[in-house]
Amino acid sequence: VVEVVESPEDVRRAVAAARDRGQRVGLVPTMGALHHGHAQLIAECRHETDLAVVSIFVNPTQFGPAEDFDRYPRSLDDDVRRCEAAGAGLVFAPSVATVYPNGGGSTYVEVPGLSDILEGACRPGHFRGVATVVLKLFEIVQPDVAIFGQKDYQQQLVIRRMVRDLHVPVVIRVAPTVREPDGLAQSSRNRYLNVQERQDALALYRALEAAQQAVAAGQHEADRIRQILRDTLESRPGVKLEYAEVADADTLEPLSDLGKGRRVVALLAAQVGSTRLIDNALLLE
Ligand code: PAF
Repeated sequence: VVEVVESPEDVRRAVAAARDRGQRVGLVPTMGALHHGHAQLIAECRHETDLAVVSIFVNPTQFGPAEDFDRYPRSLDDDVRRCEAAGAGLVFAPSVATVYPNGGGSTYVEVPGLSDILEGACRPGHFRGVATVVLKLFEIVQPDVAIFGQKDYQQQLVIRRMVRDLHVPVVIRVAPTVREPDGLAQSSRNRYLNVQERQDALALYRALEAAQQAVAAGQHEADRIRQILRDTLESRPGVKLEYAEVADADTLEPLSDLGKGRRVVALLAAQVGSTRLIDNALLLE
């Protein structure tokens, strides 16, 4: 049975024991409500390291005041079973008081620029909360490798930037988005969707597919691709677009033209009923 610990001291003890055995340590940071996407992250972590540590912590500082922190799904027993099935060696499930010993007066990490656009513009303070908690987790676990999902595309860029700026000795890996058979990206927030909304939510994937097809057919004007994304999304009355962007895949700088050998990503956010969903796809790699 996978060990579940709540204190940084217990994590350090387990990690030190692994290192004494000559093992490499990986971290998969999560907020719980685990699904197949998380199982893939854990599998990838197991592939790269000997001890896969999974953190389960619904981080209050990355939620805005009107967001879903209170109703975010919490299912620790089920999550621990999934961690075990996926090959995790240790689960770290701390309390808010443990992670934020100084409460609201905590030290924070800011990653300017990248944190202020797209998701950051829609959710002010979100990436400050993410960067802060992820650095705390890195300090507690001190992993060799940490795995994030491509679904949170901007998040992994923010974390890579933080790691580089602060010289954190960890390798960041990104695992591909896991999708339902019909294409919907797996997300803990899909649990909020009713039957109609679940249908409407497919518009995000359809929009990305349409954009990829347009690029494959030779379209390279970013504004035309943005229009295709918007049109596909807005063809479903239940879907309210927040943004549809076509950007440089490394800097998220908005593009006007897809040429010149760039890596390009399409990024979407939309409200489906009362649920906010995001998705993305690389258009050129
Ligand atoms: O992607 C998530 O689940 C969260 O943003 C993370 C990285 C665990 C930080 O709370």
